[in-house]
Amino acid sequence: MTPAMAGQDWNAIDAYEVQSLEALFERDEGRLSAFSLELGGLYFDWSKTHLDAGLLERFVAIAESKDFAAARDSLFAGEIVNATEGRPAEHVAERGTGAPDAVELASGRRGRMRALLDAIEAGAFGDITGVLHIGIGGSVLGPALLVDALGRNGSRAEVRFLSNIDGAAFDDAVSTLDPETTLIVAASKTFTTAETMSNLNAAIGWLREGGVDDPFGRVIAVTAHPEAAVEAGVDETRILQFSEGVGGRYSLWSAVGFSAALALGWSSFEELLEGAAEMDRHFRYAEPASNAPLVSAFIDRLYVRKFECQTRAAFAYDERLRLLPSYLQQLEMESNGKSVRLDGSPIGQPSAPVTWGGTGTDAQHAVFQLLHQGTVLVPVEFLAVTEAEDSLPPDHHRQLLLNAFAQGAALMRGKKSDDPHRSYPGNRPSTTILLDRLDARTLGALIAFYEHRTFANAILLDINPFDQFGVELGKEIARKLDESADDESFDPSTKTLIERAGL
Ligand code: F6P
Repeated sequence: MTPAMAGQDWNAIDAYEVQSLEALFERDEGRLSAFSLELGGLYFDWSKTHLDAGLLERFVAIAESKDFAAARDSLFAGEIVNATEGRPAEHVAERGTGAPDAVELASGRRGRMRALLDAIEAGAFGDITGVLHIGIGGSVLGPALLVDALGRNGSRAEVRFLSNIDGAAFDDAVSTLDPETTLIVAASKTFTTAETMSNLNAAIGWLREGGVDDPFGRVIAVTAHPEAAVEAGVDETRILQFSEGVGGRYSLWSAVGFSAALALGWSSFEELLEGAAEMDRHFRYAEPASNAPLVSAFIDRLYVRKFECQTRAAFAYDERLRLLPSYLQQLEMESNGKSVRLDGSPIGQPSAPVTWGGTGTDAQHAVFQLLHQGTVLVPVEFLAVTEAEDSLPPDHHRQLLLNAFAQGAALMRGKKSDDPHRSYPGNRPSTTILLDRLDARTLGALIAFYEHRTFANAILLDINPFDQFGVELGKEIARKLDESADDESFDPSTKTLIERAGL
């Protein structure tokens, strides 16, 4: 397909006459069933978006023109889908749905992970009451989300997460831990990331000061580069390896999830993988028009391209999912925040919107004003869980859910008033994802859904979602400044900041 032909496909979207949400419901009695889907404990409701049958047909044609099915097959076959780094993307192999050799390797490594977990539980490291998980970006956001979401009703060990290179974050993370009974899990794909290495050093010092004679004996390293972990001082027997083909932000299924497995128990970790595998199978085999990640990607494209939305917001109406928006920020923005296609040519259209969000109902009293009456359009995603697991009478949870559903209805319906200050334009889109209950299986499916949606967006845009060269320049300049803060080649603003901070 030539770029001109591809342009034709997008022209079909650009030229399409979009109906208002009200009109879409009025004209099609079957709209809800046509634009919703139930899948393994997850219910997707896209009916309050502007997607209709005509648009869906055109988007499916674009997906076909991009060889969507072949690109998807390449992912599951373990082919080189990360062309700029010459690698496959093997997160699906971690949950058993990738290429057979990669699945076998991942399963063998998972066996080691489990053996280490069993040894810890059997007391091989003495009495362990706490875990300090050190990592940053993809090496922390996933496990932190899992523990926060699923570890509330009885976590097996207290797991604290440390990422930022900020002493205040360190003090905070260790404040409730006892060095004599704490295990360190240092997760870093490269095992060179500055923040993680500095925090690991600080943790070693903290253990030593806390009376631990052999602090490195308490460190478990999780990495794709065991040689770097050995070099840093970690014994080979305590290194859990994962594959270079598993990208950081796609890595919670691998040994990067070790702290979460420790906190939640091995069977929960396996259920998480099974839930993800179920979503993998859906993504792999469902028809495009009823393929949840792909349909969501169509909607993403619709709002970014046709409605020129620069952001999208996800609100978790469930405290247990409060870390999901920040997890999604890395997944979506680091994957698809690109300006060039796979072949290096300019992308020619907006790529990833800024992902942001928060929790409901808090966000209703803070940012929803703009969503209802502001001058920018923000497609919203509501996440809620039918079954409560809290200590309060059912009406409390009922109110939470009603609030979520009311917001979607209000955004769509709007309200006319003679007073412009009290008028709501309505016709503002939202998607609702309702989970029957929040357990390891549904969470696994939900996270895998987001991964595939991100990948599907990348296919539609012809970009590589698996590299992240954009983060390198800042790291390089930080290194240069560290080596020589008075380097004349830096701009006056940067030099003055360094001087003022006394560096
Ligand atoms: O700087 C970005 C990044 O490379 C992310 O992609 C990654 O998840 C994070 O840093 C941590 O990298 P590592 O796991 O190698 O420490």
